[in-house]
Amino acid sequence: MVSAFYRQVPADDILGPMYPPEDLAGAEERLRLFLIFRFGGPQDYLQRRGHPKLRLRHAPFAIDQLARDRWMQLMNNAITECQFSNDVSTVLRTFLGNVATFLVNR
Ligand code: HEM
Repeated sequence: MVSAFYRQVPADDILGPMYPPEDLAGAEERLRLFLIFRFGGPQDYLQRRGHPKLRLRHAPFAIDQLARDRWMQLMNNAITECQFSNDVSTVLRTFLGNVATFLVNR
């Protein structure tokens, strides 16, 4: 799901310019490890990055409603591509949508 999301980022007119072009693989790895940790898996994210502090870490990026909705649109495409069961898709869409709304800062 995370790689399906990041595959769409470079060509996106809103999100593409926000992500570091020289470290897109690093950004992908950070989101992957965060989600693994957040859904109860190994805590590699915490060891590498410490407390997530997601609002603070997103503060440098201008996240308005449009950017939030675009992020969710790409993530929803990724979830669809993965063909998870309805239960899993719903849990992911709800969790990611709530965090995305919480990260709106403009
Ligand atoms: C609302 C729209 C969002 C935008 C525009 C956005 C944008 C970004 C950008 C530009 C980065 C920096 C890339 C990097 O790591 O170098 C980043 C990092 C990150 N984002 Fe988001 N993001 C959004 C939503 C979310 C959501 C919903 C989550 C989690 C559910 C999330 C989790 C993360 C994590 C874990 C990092 C890496 C933090 C770190 O360890 O430094 N983001 N995001």
